Amino acid sequence: MQRRIGRADKWVRHLQCWQRRYSRMAEQTSSEAAACLPKLPPFDYSPPPYTGPTADEIFKKRKQFLSPSMFYFYKKPLNIVHGKMQYLFDESGRRYLDAFGGIATVSCGHCHPEVVEAIVNQTNKLQHSTILYFNHAIADFAEALASKLPADLKVVFFTNSGTEANELAMMMARLYTGSHDVISLRNAYHGNAAGTMGATAQCNWKFNVVQSGVHHALNPDPYRGIFGSDGKTYAKDVQDLIQFSTSGQVAAFISEAIQGVGGIVELAPDYLSSVYSSIKEAGGLCIADEVQAGFGRTGSHFWGFENHGVVPDIVTMAKGIGNGIPLGAVVTTPKIAEVLTRRNYFNTFGGNPVCTAAGHAVLRVIEKEKLQENAHAVGSYLKEHLTALKDKHEIIGDVRGRGLMLGVELVTDRQQKTPAKVEILHLMDQIKDMGVLIGKGGFYGNVFRITPPLCFTREDADFLVDVLDSAMSKI
Ligand SMILES: Cc1ncc(COP(=O)(O)O)c(C=O)c1O
Repeated sequence: MQRRIGRADKWVRHLQCWQRRYSRMAEQTSSEAAACLPKLPPFDYSPPPYTGPTADEIFKKRKQFLSPSMFYFYKKPLNIVHGKMQYLFDESGRRYLDAFGGIATVSCGHCHPEVVEAIVNQTNKLQHSTILYFNHAIADFAEALASKLPADLKVVFFTNSGTEANELAMMMARLYTGSHDVISLRNAYHGNAAGTMGATAQCNWKFNVVQSGVHHALNPDPYRGIFGSDGKTYAKDVQDLIQFSTSGQVAAFISEAIQGVGGIVELAPDYLSSVYSSIKEAGGLCIADEVQAGFGRTGSHFWGFENHGVVPDIVTMAKGIGNGIPLGAVVTTPKIAEVLTRRNYFNTFGGNPVCTAAGHAVLRVIEKEKLQENAHAVGSYLKEHLTALKDKHEIIGDVRGRGLMLGVELVTDRQQKTPAKVEILHLMDQIKDMGVLIGKGGFYGNVFRITPPLCFTREDADFLVDVLDSAMSKI
């Protein structure tokens, strides 16, 4: 009996020894693995400790009190509680590189001190009055904004969002021309109100409600489009639409220079110039939707349309204009702007002093910190490295875009261009776990959207590429 107990003791000691040895090995392997993981560039800032509700608590409230239409990223949704420049922090204080910029909205950087200062100063003085009284904030910003636009584009109307800006632009075009038909591009996103939902051309974003008078032309998409990069041939489709689907006279053509929600699709070269001529011949106006591509994001130019050598009649903007403050604008010529004097047209919050003070500060920061130039330099560097990743990972079907508006389209079969819809979801989670927040879009939801704050650095770009490489290597 005694001998049996002794043998059992020995056995237990042996097992414990192995357990210790195994856990030491496991620790070593996981710390070795952690050492191999890409490292976030250093950043000398720590947010104050967060003491608010957790992601789980917020999730419960969202479910109970908010619209069930609100969706979210990631299997385990993130509770983002703090932001500083190109970085975001979650409830535990973990830092993430923000490669999405709140959907191409945070242009200068999260909580940029000069933008925050402008907001706080204006809020302390006057938060809201009405445009029925004078205030310098709206006039000063309108003047500064108009100075960034070419030709006769000098009259500004402020709105609260991109949808409102596009609604107004389409209405002005209809009033000015006396025509109703508008042409937009398939795969476009221009908003979600009555008129703009008509111009939006992806079934995912269209409800079954009246959306009159919009025709959707073939998308001049160099990767998936039937004519490849032949912009002039796609442009012929707009002529056909005018001839076969309208009275021959149109109100407007509206498009982005790079489709954002559509999956960072750059319009084929020579397309816009050709289409703008056809639209003018048919008595219509050309509207450039700069909600995502504007404010220096494309790097080479301040506005996306400038990359195509065209001058629109109306330019709409939102998102990056306010670095996160609700603000939109329509800029047009004095002659076109005149149409709104036929009746009263009013917007309670449009041009609010706090929002316009913020917008003005954003413009100053973009210029002072040369953020457009940075978008060009860092964006070109990043695109080059993403393109190199394509040689390594079969799942990358296409790398495209300009400046800091880049897209990486994932496919499971390069020949068939089969959208990697499931794989992208898996990768999104992996990438987040490694410390990068990236966007997703495109008609099939299989395109990574990279639209970070324009203060993104080369080190950030390296980290992003390393994380993508690491995640894709495991798939
Ligand atoms: C190109 C474009 N236009 C218009 C809109 C609508 O803007 P908002 O969501 O501010 O109404 C968006 C929104 O994503 C957009 O990407």
